Amino acid sequence: MPKVLLARRFPDSILKRAETLFDVTLHDSPDPLDQADREAALATYDGILATLGDTFPATAFPAGRTKIIANFGVGYNHINASAATNADVMVTNTPGVLTDATADIAMTLMLMAARRAGEGERMLRAGKWHGWHPTQLMGQDITGQTLGIIGFGRIGQAMARKAHYGFGMRIVFHNRSSKTADFPAEQLSSIEEVCATADVVAVHAPGGNHHLINANAIAAMKPTGILINTARGDVVDEAALIDALEQNRIFAAGLDVYEQEPHVPARLMALENAVLLPHLGSASLPVREAMGNMALDNLDAFFNDRPVLNPVPEMS
Ligand code: GLV
Repeated sequence: MPKVLLARRFPDSILKRAETLFDVTLHDSPDPLDQADREAALATYDGILATLGDTFPATAFPAGRTKIIANFGVGYNHINASAATNADVMVTNTPGVLTDATADIAMTLMLMAARRAGEGERMLRAGKWHGWHPTQLMGQDITGQTLGIIGFGRIGQAMARKAHYGFGMRIVFHNRSSKTADFPAEQLSSIEEVCATADVVAVHAPGGNHHLINANAIAAMKPTGILINTARGDVVDEAALIDALEQNRIFAAGLDVYEQEPHVPARLMALENAVLLPHLGSASLPVREAMGNMALDNLDAFFNDRPVLNPVPEMS
């Protein structure tokens, strides 16, 4: 049986199934593999079921023994896929199964940020709510407003569809290549144009697009604008976003991801106009099981000389 390392504790059903397929070792910790763990793993196991935070930089390769890293997650910017390819190590991911869950978290953040739900809950729990009054915690409307999507892939389109059909939102988007959808959505030519047009800007571009949303893009947003990021922290210039929020140059932000995750800057935590979630995008049991099964299917195919189902785009 191939020797496979599970780099984290995954849901029970995944661990059980893995044990029927492979000679499994469990890195039984909520924490990612550190450099020493990673070096030992690459020398010891035929395959690694890795996830967010388990970094495999270019210097991790060539691998001593490992032939496949099956990533539990769709984003794989923590793995240097070109260095892996050059070292003949396959990398797979789990696209599709977490699309709606992640788009749902983007919707959650949009509604919370617009209607000041985090701020209101903090006020109530602090015992500072002294009753309803007509000008208390007034937010922004969502229904009928314009949503701008940056990165019109699976997750961006899923959010747009929910916002359009559920909330009557007009959809504009920016995407490197040209895209169409099966619902009304207008492609604009620049990120700044989307930022200037939309009431809510939602980031869905993959990690590695460093500061795609930079200070200029943020400056182009409306003073009532809301920025949502459920993609990867490095896609947004976090310092520029904090400046804009502190100076009330935009209305609010809703974030599920951070530049130096899990570090969240104190300046960001101090802001009432930021809704901050701990990277919950795919965090439902059915979705996490689907992700685990997909990663196991990739490992199983690889070790049985069948084509893997989800090679990362850099490898397909
Ligand atoms: C989670 O962030 C993922 O990329 O699947």
